[in-house]
Amino acid sequence: MNKVIVTGGAGFIGSNLVRRLIADGVDEVLIIDDFSTGKEENLDDSPKINLVKSKLEDINNLHSMFEGYDFCFHLAAGVGVQYIMENLSDSLLTNIQGTHIVFEACKKNNIPVLITSTSEIYGTSQEESWDEETKSLIGPTTKLRWSYAVSKMIDEFLALSEFEAGNLNPIIVRLFNTIGPNQVSEYGMVVPKFVESALKNENIIIHGDGNQTRSFTWVGDVINYFIKLSELKNYGEIYNIGQTEEISIKDLAQLVIDTANSNSEVKFKSHKDVFGDKFEDPSRRTPNIDKIIKATGIKPSYDIKTMIKEIVEFKRQD
Ligand SMILES: NC(=O)c1ccc[n+]([C@@H]2O[C@H](COP(=O)([O-])OP(=O)(O)OC[C@H]3O[C@@H](n4cnc5c(N)ncnc54)[C@H](O)[C@@H]3O)[C@@H](O)[C@H]2O)c1
Repeated sequence: MNKVIVTGGAGFIGSNLVRRLIADGVDEVLIIDDFSTGKEENLDDSPKINLVKSKLEDINNLHSMFEGYDFCFHLAAGVGVQYIMENLSDSLLTNIQGTHIVFEACKKNNIPVLITSTSEIYGTSQEESWDEETKSLIGPTTKLRWSYAVSKMIDEFLALSEFEAGNLNPIIVRLFNTIGPNQVSEYGMVVPKFVESALKNENIIIHGDGNQTRSFTWVGDVINYFIKLSELKNYGEIYNIGQTEEISIKDLAQLVIDTANSNSEVKFKSHKDVFGDKFEDPSRRTPNIDKIIKATGIKPSYDIKTMIKEIVEFKRQD
């Protein structure tokens, strides 16, 4: 890979990916980002970055812009429960229309594309652990939070149908909660929110009873998988990327308080009070990651204690 496209490259995962691509010696990275949630300060000042500040859907000549590139990482999307609930139709359109025009430009230029789907598409599945063939249990359309999951499912269907037709070389990754440097708290991401509150000795607010469990993955591990998958060229395949170590949100809050040596207190708010009645939440969310480990030979390296320690340090210096 010498010339790489990263849509959403100024965001949390995108900016960490761009830094890694440049460190690995690529010649050029084309970033397309509208800064809706991304930030310019996430990007290093590098002559290798070709930055286009625009909403994807507003670019008329995407296929000529993509000419001469070798690979596309498509990350631009409306992300984060809070952001989605506050920008419902915009997020839906970006996730569907934006992805469609990226695919069209990749098809015209014969560029393989890695797309970032989500664990949300498993919905409230009660299966013990979710592998790539696990049946989805998405809630009713009146619970609008599921619109994000369904928009990402449409992206997957679009990618797989173009692959079946021989038009596109897609790789689909389903990311479970990813955390690390450059992740912001404003859009409802639990770890940066807890850490920022702890560092200010403010109350940590848990949505629900805190017994819901989640698994968290270090952004550097996620990027190792992205790079390896782009090399392996297993097109038309879907991979879960995540961690199997689970932690309850209550225990996560305590871990953050202990790590930051904070005086914060933990308070609880119902999901209804925070998001109204158009919301529901899965009680647990744990991936089966056998497929990605088998394909890449890579295991996630960071445990939750190490991740929280690093994020506390990063936010202290921020
Ligand atoms: N962070 C996670 O835990 C997680 C979990 C599952 C899936 N994902 C997926 O990974 C990808 C990256 O997520 P992230 O956590 O880095 O979020 P992020 O919000 O930090 O990054 C998204 C980036 O896309 C940009 N963007 C949004 N809409 C755009 C548009 N219409 N045109 C151009 N740019 C646009 C934003 O400004 C931002 O820089 C997303 O596709 C997301 O759905 C992330």
